[in-house]
Amino acid sequence: MSESAELVRWVEFNPLGDERGELVAIEGGETIPFNIQRVYYLFGFKKSVSRGYHAHRALQQTAVCVSGSCKMRLDNGQEQAELILDSPHRGLLIGSMVWREMHEFSSDCVLLVLADQHHDESDYIRSYDEFLEVLNAEE
Ligand code: TYD
Repeated sequence: MSESAELVRWVEFNPLGDERGELVAIEGGETIPFNIQRVYYLFGFKKSVSRGYHAHRALQQTAVCVSGSCKMRLDNGQEQAELILDSPHRGLLIGSMVWREMHEFSSDCVLLVLADQHHDESDYIRSYDEFLEVLNAEE
């Protein structure tokens, strides 16, 4: 599976920890390339569940696994990549029109997601066939 520089974009966070412990700060428009309108987090995963299976028409997000680990599969219609998220020190940027699936959550996984827009169901594409149709229409 290829890893395109465009599809797979990591942001390394500046560690601000000291002898008391670790600290990471993420500033919208600075640490990550968009302003943060929404924060959500996924946790308490049931065994063997997968999530995602959608793309967003416009939404940009950054996913940070602040505890535990999971796998993120990304697909922009041309290239696919499967990434392991297991560090609170870096985030995965997920642009618009990228199909994502999340698998293999560890029981202690906490996945923090920063998004540049409020929740809007009309921004979702939940069918892979429709995702490909929208991509083809954009060409
Ligand atoms: P969804 O994005 O489908 O979850 P996942 O991609 O992790 O499988 O969201 C699940 C449900 O929660 C869906 O009904 C939409 C709702 N939701 C909100 O209301 N606000 C949000 O910010 C998010 C992310 C989801």
